[in-house]
Amino acid sequence: MKKKNSFMPLVFLFIIMTISYPGAGALAEDSLAPRINPGRLRSIRLIKNPLPLDEQSVAAGKEIYFGKGICFSCHGDTGKGNGPSGAGLDPRPRDFTSIAWQKVRTDAEIYTVINEGTQFGMMAYGNSLTEEERWDLVNYIRTLGVAEDFPPRVNPGRLPEVKLMKNPVRPDSKSVALGKEIYFGKGICVSCHGESGKGDGQSGASFNPGPRDFTNTTWQNLRTDGEIFVAINEGTQLGMMAFGDNLTEQEVWSLVNYLREIGKGK
Ligand code: HEC
Ligand code: HEC
Repeated sequence: MKKKNSFMPLVFLFIIMTISYPGAGALAEDSLAPRINPGRLRSIRLIKNPLPLDEQSVAAGKEIYFGKGICFSCHGDTGKGNGPSGAGLDPRPRDFTSIAWQKVRTDAEIYTVINEGTQFGMMAYGNSLTEEERWDLVNYIRTLGVAEDFPPRVNPGRLPEVKLMKNPVRPDSKSVALGKEIYFGKGICVSCHGESGKGDGQSGASFNPGPRDFTNTTWQNLRTDGEIFVAINEGTQLGMMAFGDNLTEQEVWSLVNYLREIGKGK
């Protein structure tokens, strides 16, 4: 008898869900429709994100996205919602690169969904992530809305592994100074990427796409140290040349540290 009774809550839940969401199918398909219950939506929209959208928070969010949150497995490496684990899901995992979606959601709505999940397949992370980690994820997701501007330069198959590579060289003043010396010296980066890193060096004028502008914060936020390391080491298919044969790993990581300084406006 006891066994039979344990089904009852499930049956009730099913009935309640069917009654209270008559248009659930249509709502599921409309990725712009709010995922928060209408009764709570107003008050949730008033909640402010306590963390600034800065490099530190975005980097922390990115680490969780590719690390313990395994968000990338469903939402994809660039946030397009095309990760392998999400392939069979209906509705599909959200496409964070959609500017339309980014516009209709407030930070607190995104935060709440990460916390509580949705009825349509997004799972709840409230128990496995701290509040701060969830806001960091919100900030990282905000940087994905324009990801189309800077598609990754690393082959998709290698991307998760490259994204998680740790920079073994501390970004202290010694390493940054070494990076700067190479940038203006034997690396001749300055000739294409320019004195202030804006991508406006003379030798780069004929390239299309042009040499990267390291002062672009969207690019800085999107790329991990590992991706920048690989781009310098191996070059890109679109015109950045490979320096792996002429520079030591230590030198390339120091260049990464210097490019980060440029990104901070130094
Ligand atoms: C097992 C697959 C899966 C994983 C892992 C996953 N998600 Fe989702 N996520 C989904 C699906 C499916 C949806 C769409 C659900 C819907 O339309 O309500 C979604 C929707 C979302 C949304 C959009 C909600 C809205 O308001 O439109 C956000 C934000 C989100 N996920 C964040 C995350 C974050 C952050 C992580 C990692 C901590 C993560 N997801 C991990 C499957 C996943
Ligand atoms: C001859 C011109 C030239 C020189 C010299 C050059 N680059 Fe580039 N670099 C480019 C071009 C062009 C691109 C854009 C290629 C692309 O969009 O994939 C680029 C892109 C990059 C990127 C961005 C890759 C990404 O993931 O978006 C990095 C990082 C980079 N260069 C670093 C360097 C460093 C460090 C040096 C010096 C060691 C250097 N470059 C020297 C032309 C140059």
